[in-house]
Amino acid sequence: MTMTENYTENCRNIFEKLLPAERIHFEGDVMVFFSRDETEDLCFRPWVVAEPESVEEVSSLLRAAFENDIPVTPGGARTGLSGGALAVHGGLVLSLRRMNRILDIDLKNNQVVVEPGVITEVLQNAVEEKGLFYAVDPASRGTCTIGGNLAENSGGPRAVKYGVTKDWVLNLQVVLSDGQVIETGANTLKNSTGYNLTALMVGSEGTLGVITRATLKLLPLPKFSALMFVPFKNVSDACRTISEIFLSGATPSALEFMERDAMVLAQEFTGNKELHLDPTDEAYLLIEVDGANEAEIMPQCESILSVLELQSAGDILFAQSSDEKEKLWYLRRRVGEAVKASSIYKEEDTVVPRARLPQLMDAVKRLGDEYGFRSICYGHAGDGNLHINILKDDLSEEMWSDVLPVAIRKLFTEVVALGGTLSGEHGIGLVQKEYMDIALSPPNLLIQRGIKDVFDPKGILNPGKIFPNESHERV
Ligand code: LAC
Ligand code: ZN
Repeated sequence: MTMTENYTENCRNIFEKLLPAERIHFEGDVMVFFSRDETEDLCFRPWVVAEPESVEEVSSLLRAAFENDIPVTPGGARTGLSGGALAVHGGLVLSLRRMNRILDIDLKNNQVVVEPGVITEVLQNAVEEKGLFYAVDPASRGTCTIGGNLAENSGGPRAVKYGVTKDWVLNLQVVLSDGQVIETGANTLKNSTGYNLTALMVGSEGTLGVITRATLKLLPLPKFSALMFVPFKNVSDACRTISEIFLSGATPSALEFMERDAMVLAQEFTGNKELHLDPTDEAYLLIEVDGANEAEIMPQCESILSVLELQSAGDILFAQSSDEKEKLWYLRRRVGEAVKASSIYKEEDTVVPRARLPQLMDAVKRLGDEYGFRSICYGHAGDGNLHINILKDDLSEEMWSDVLPVAIRKLFTEVVALGGTLSGEHGIGLVQKEYMDIALSPPNLLIQRGIKDVFDPKGILNPGKIFPNESHERV
């Protein structure tokens, strides 16, 4: 028997009796599925996968894991990009995908209560039917789940106007590492009662507890929008235009930046090449404004158009119909998958104050020249959040695994010097943890470790994540 088979056998004895056989897995293809997420080509096989359907089941699984010192990695839809859901120490993968009910749409209080396995777009559509709006809109909204969004504090294109996941959470039900269940707050718009554990849980990447229910805020649905696709002959003009748009007084509901290669790959990947991309373009902005009526939108479009005229933009494509808008957004949302399909790659989710995007782009390309790597950048430019994709192409293994981390360390050092930080919305997880010392001081990291110890004294919750210098192997 291998070590893993041994551990799995041990887990069979511990967990088998806690769930019906069809919801607890020890072998077969399902283990392969739960060994990966969308991060690079990484693969870590858990010893056991459990699919609870209630908070009581989550609690009993955690109690058993706690008593037996078994690592537990909570997981959602496996769309993560920082390795947060990878069971790097083996152990139990706790999949929340079957806890997928929308429990209550509270129209009188503009709130919704959901389980973590609800797909984000399913929630958006369900509240839209009632004239309401769940604002957070990650690119993977058709597959990602609210639980994963909470774990990573996901953002997406609309964050520039509406904020990120944390801005929409009122209250959470959380199962602690030993199986006890708490509520972090109350279903109220205001709450100054003790420490803000709700905010602490959001973005904690499954390292502090398992979220089993969330109360989220809703808005009235903005029924009108306008969408512009704008080409630029050079990247720095596109980047400079971003701050100018805000200076003009406009409040875009999305302001996305794509290098030309990103759009070309998305067209190839989707097979949708209707949109003409001039070979001499270097970059594009996708700019959206929304509102309750036309009157809210038109003045904003006018301000934006006057900025674009001054900033050497090319011919602006105004999406005329909802079909045309959807096609543009479809291309934008597929960029990540298109890049992944084109090469092995590393993705850095950098964020800087948005006026410093031109300097960030310069730094990326300069380091690319120095270290010989090709990069494709795109992202939520209105937030200063740039997804930097470094492609393996034909770089040697040595370059990829030994030299590139040196270049990435230099890149993050420049990001922090620009007033930015390591991750805007994908989390630290596994793949960014070795760079945490660049962004966070020793006393800051010490406080964070202390918080981790209070919530998870045995270190069983998603071990090997966020904190630098932790081994990937079970000790
Ligand atoms: C996006 C994902 C990768 O913006 O965050 O497409
Ligand atoms: Zn993104």
